[in-house]
Amino acid sequence: MEQTVVLVKPDGVQRGLIGEIVQRFERKGLKLAALKMISLNDALLEEWYVHHKDKPFFPGLKSYMKSYPVVAMLWEGIDAATTVRTMIGVTKAREAMPGTIRGDFAMSQQYNLIHASESPEAAERERAIMFNPEDTFDWEKVDNIHVYLDEERKS
Ligand code: CMP
Repeated sequence: MEQTVVLVKPDGVQRGLIGEIVQRFERKGLKLAALKMISLNDALLEEWYVHHKDKPFFPGLKSYMKSYPVVAMLWEGIDAATTVRTMIGVTKAREAMPGTIRGDFAMSQQYNLIHASESPEAAERERAIMFNPEDTFDWEKVDNIHVYLDEERKS
């Protein structure tokens, strides 16, 4: 099944929202395949945000992402990347829909609590940057038979 990478950013960690965020994805029916707390450094952030490196906000983004640890997670499910992106809401948090994580808990364009991979291809790249093989777990989530139809799980 598809996997996607989520980061609870430093503002989410500071605001005590790690549990709330994990709970939303768990209750949705996604499967947690990895979870760790990590302090990010310049080298990792320059690789992670390579597509933003020429943007005027990049230096500020880098220092914000280094300011406190983040919690990195790998979530698994059918269409996991799209599902998680829908659940987090748009970048500018004050415009995010109520019911989304940013819509319910954040106001800023930078302090928007959470990162989620843009696509399955982005998730692959980010998984390789963020996790070592021993960080990730391939376990059987037995309640998946109540989350998906058989045909969906086998497709
Ligand atoms: P995200 O979309 O997860 O990844 C890029 C991040 O850069 C984004 O979340 C925000 O945290 C930050 N960001 C995007 N646009 C701006 C902006 N205009 N000013 C400051 N930070 C931004």
